[in-house]
Amino acid sequence: MFSFLKIGFFSLVLIATQFSFSQEKIPHLQKKGDKTQLMVNEKPFLVLGGELGNSSATTIESMEPIWPKLKEMNLNTVLTPVYWELIEKEEGKFDFALVDDLILRARKEDLKLVFLWFGSWKNSMSSHAPAWIKLNQKKYPRVKEDKNKSHEILTPFSENNLKADLTAFQKLMAHIKDFDQKEQTVIMIQVENEIGMLPTARDYSPQANEAFNKEVPAELLQYMQKNKQHLVPEFLELWKKNGFKTKGNWETIFGKSLQTDEVFMAWYFSKFTNAVTKAGKDSYAIPMFINAALNAPEKKPGEYPSAGPLPHLMDVWKAAGNSIDFLSPDFYNPMFKHWNDLFIRQGDPLFIPEHKFDKTAPFKGLYAIGHYEAIGFSPFSIESVTDAKKEPLGKIYDLVRQLTPVIEANKGLGKMDGVLLDKENQSQIIQLGNYEFTFKHDYTLNWSDGAKEEIWPVTSAIIIEITPDEFYIAGSGIVVTFKPLKDKSLNAGILKVDQGTFENNGWKTLRHFNGDQTHQGRHVRIAVDDYEIQKLKLYTYE
Ligand code: DGJ
Repeated sequence: MFSFLKIGFFSLVLIATQFSFSQEKIPHLQKKGDKTQLMVNEKPFLVLGGELGNSSATTIESMEPIWPKLKEMNLNTVLTPVYWELIEKEEGKFDFALVDDLILRARKEDLKLVFLWFGSWKNSMSSHAPAWIKLNQKKYPRVKEDKNKSHEILTPFSENNLKADLTAFQKLMAHIKDFDQKEQTVIMIQVENEIGMLPTARDYSPQANEAFNKEVPAELLQYMQKNKQHLVPEFLELWKKNGFKTKGNWETIFGKSLQTDEVFMAWYFSKFTNAVTKAGKDSYAIPMFINAALNAPEKKPGEYPSAGPLPHLMDVWKAAGNSIDFLSPDFYNPMFKHWNDLFIRQGDPLFIPEHKFDKTAPFKGLYAIGHYEAIGFSPFSIESVTDAKKEPLGKIYDLVRQLTPVIEANKGLGKMDGVLLDKENQSQIIQLGNYEFTFKHDYTLNWSDGAKEEIWPVTSAIIIEITPDEFYIAGSGIVVTFKPLKDKSLNAGILKVDQGTFENNGWKTLRHFNGDQTHQGRHVRIAVDDYEIQKLKLYTYE
C-alpha cells in the first residue's frame, strides 16, 4: 500500500513537472506600464548584445576564437546570421548542423542567441539566396530599375519568391522549436536584413508595374482612415497634399512622386516580409523584428535603400500585417536621439540590433537602456575588438548586468532615465522622485584632467529611483548636483553615497564616499574612465 502510494506520488510529481514545463511560455514580449519587456524563461531579459560580422559564423571553426571575447565583454546575447544559402543548398533539403552547433555552444557559454534570417534580402541585395534560386531567374524573378535593367534583388511581387523564402524560414523555425524550446537559447529572430529597393525608388519589373497601376489596396486605405489621428506626420502630409483621397491607384491617392513610389514599394515589401514572418511564427512564435538602414536626409529614395522599415514609412509597414513585432534602427550615423525618438513615437519598443562599434557605442547603449528603457543594444562586428578585457563596452555591460533586476522592476513606471553627454551637450536635467538632478560632463569640472582637451569623450549614465529620496546612479564621466523639486526655498544635500556592486541580487557597499569624492558633499561624480554604481540618499534643509 505504502509503496503504491509512493509510486503514485512520484508519478504525480513527474506529471506535474512535465505539465509545468509544457506550460512555460516561449520567449515573448510583455507590456509593463508604457514600456515593453522581453520575457525569456518567464523572466525579463535585457539584451546586452553584440552582432557578429557577416561571415564570422559560417563555420564552427571560424567561431572558435570569438567565443572567449564575447564572454570577456560581458555579453549575454550574440546576434548572428543564419544563411539561407547554407541551410538549403539544394531545394527542399535542409541542413541545420551549423545552427545546432551555434545553439549548443552558446548554451555552454551561457549566452543567448538572436538569429538574423539572411533570406531574400541582405542590405537590399539577395546575395544569400541559394544557387538554385539565383540560377533560375525565370522562376524566381528579380527587380528591375526604370531602365529595364535587372539587379540581384528578388522582387517581392513574385509568389514563387515568397513561397521559397517562407518555406525555408518556416522549416528553420520548426527546427529551432524542436531543438531549443525547452532551453530557450534562441530568444528573438530578425527577419531579413536592411530591406530596401535600389537603385530606383520602386521596382519596375512587369509584376511590379501591373500592381502599380491597380487601385491602392482597401486594407491600406482602411488602416489610414482608421488611424488618421495617429499616423506619423510625414505620411499624413503626403496623403493630405493630395486631398486625403480614399479611392484610386497609387498616384491618384498619393500624387506622382518618388515618395509615392516608395510607399508603394514599402507596402509590398511589408506584405512579403509579414508573410515570411507569419509562416515562421506558425512554427514557433518567438518575437520577430526587422531592421532599417537609416536614410541620409539629403538623399532621395533609391539613392538610399527605398521603402525599408523607416520611421516615415512605419504606418505602411504596420498596415500590411502584424506578424512583425517591431521595427528597429541600425546606427552608422551620430544622430542617436533623433532616430530613436522617431522609432518610439507610436509607443513601440526600442531594440538596437546594430550600432557601429566605435568609442561612443557603450555609452549610447547605456543611455538607450536608461532613457528609452530599451529591450537591448548590440554593436556590430563585435569580434573585431582588439583587447576585449579592456573594452569599455564590457565595463558598461557589467554595470547593466548588475542592475538588470532593478531596471526591469522599474521599467515602464517613470522611475528611470538616462543622460548622454559630450562637449556639445555638456549638461542635462532630470526630474525624479523629490529632486531635480543636473548631470554634467565630467570635463566641466575645471580641475578634471581632460577639461582642456579639444574633443571630449561621449559619456553617459542611468538613474533609477529606489524611493523618492534614494537613487542608483551608474555610468561613467558624469558629475551630478541636486535641487528639491517642489519647495524651491529648500536646499538639497547628500545624506549618504555608497559605491558598490550587486552580489546575489543584493547591494554590497565597497566604499562610503565623502570628502573629495563628493566635493565635500556638493556632488556625485563618476570620472571619465571610471565605471561605477553609486547609491545615493538625499535630504533637504532650510
Ligand atoms: C549594416 C548591415 O545590416 C550589416 O549586416 C553590415 O553589412 C553593416 N551594415 C556594414 O558593415
